[in-house]
Amino acid sequence: MKITRRAYAREMPLLTAKAAKVQLAPEGYPATPVWSYDGTIPGPVIRAVQGSRLERRLTNMLEVPTSIHWHGIRIENAMDGVAGLTQAAVPSGESFDYAFDLPDAGTYWYHAHKNSMEQVARGLSGALIIEEPTPPDVDRDEVLMIDDWLLDPETGLFVDDFAAPMTRSHGGQIGNLVGVNGRYDYRLPARQNERLRLRLINAANARIFGLKLEGMTGWTVALDGMPLGAPEPVTDTLVLAPAQRIDLIVDVTAEEGETAGVLFAAADESWRLLAEVPVTGRAGSTLRGAPEPLPRNPRMEIAGIEVAPVLDMPLQGGAMRGLDGARFNGQQLDWQELVQQGQFWALAGQVGLGDTPFATLSRGETLRIRMKNETIFPHAMHLHGMHFRVRKEDGTLGPLRDTVLVMPNEVTEIAFLADNPGKWLLHCHMLGHAASGMTNWIEVS
Ligand code: C2O
Ligand code: CU
Repeated sequence: MKITRRAYAREMPLLTAKAAKVQLAPEGYPATPVWSYDGTIPGPVIRAVQGSRLERRLTNMLEVPTSIHWHGIRIENAMDGVAGLTQAAVPSGESFDYAFDLPDAGTYWYHAHKNSMEQVARGLSGALIIEEPTPPDVDRDEVLMIDDWLLDPETGLFVDDFAAPMTRSHGGQIGNLVGVNGRYDYRLPARQNERLRLRLINAANARIFGLKLEGMTGWTVALDGMPLGAPEPVTDTLVLAPAQRIDLIVDVTAEEGETAGVLFAAADESWRLLAEVPVTGRAGSTLRGAPEPLPRNPRMEIAGIEVAPVLDMPLQGGAMRGLDGARFNGQQLDWQELVQQGQFWALAGQVGLGDTPFATLSRGETLRIRMKNETIFPHAMHLHGMHFRVRKEDGTLGPLRDTVLVMPNEVTEIAFLADNPGKWLLHCHMLGHAASGMTNWIEVS
């Protein structure tokens, strides 16, 4: 008998980037050609248990190079998926094996990180759920991957203006169709008094979602994967910027036959249905009261914030403000020259990745970065590889996050412990902004 090596090799689960056709628009409109993981929009929900190892072989069946970033995972640098920084992009027809440990439980996501502006807009993203070894006491655990798509209603095609200066220099690409889990009419039937864990993920290129619950009472239990010390009752509009996640535990209070749901604020400020929750049957005779906090993740403390060095990283550029000048590809350029190169934004005077990082840190150091938004647009700033806390002026600290929304004229200071060695991006998650200047990096040695 001949034993081949293949018989010994443990098969690595596959994740295939490929073209597909999906009905995103309502019936009667044409289907949309998309770029997908495994043929669906969004890609498959990947679930794994905290403390385990995740393995996926990305096979690239697209005609363009690609890579996968595992957003929010405190991952080893070589697996971070940033084409051009932590790996070479995977050419068409080839594959790349991702394998990494999962230190934290929580709601994360994965998406393309090569020409992300276009690749994510065309569909290359999916949810990544890391389960607590002992999950909280809920009846169901549901992922709501929220997205918007800019479609030509005649053809069903994505409007191909991914590089349009108008989009990139303003607020970014906003779709004309909003949906959840690939459906504009997403429905999540539930029972009265049922307790659900809702994992909200904003996968949109640029849209900031204002969300509220109807017929449900809820608590925020985690942000960007990381559990809150105590669940916070949802009383107000929830704001979910691009790439952010909110974990809610909700109880369905609407009666049988009624409709509950998650609503979003449309551009005209009216509230529209994002996910409809028709109520049929009852899960019990009473509601359960406030939930327990989720179990903590490891390494949630950041020591020495008050004595940490502070670096300024002003957010600069964009329509209406522009830039006096900034460095791009090793040269100092004025606004006119930058615009000619399709660049509109800068972080601390640097457009895109420079040869040297914004900051070099030794492992174990704590750093504060003060981001003053000098533009007239909001920006969702994301740090790879490590979570941070927002430090208010009076020294109080916000929850651990990996993406923070910085509004115009706002000054947001983040503090993080550089405990993960490697080269890490710090960029705006409005993907058109990231593609036209708002991307920098730090190095932890
Ligand atoms: Cu979710 Cu660098 O990105
Ligand atoms: Cu931005």
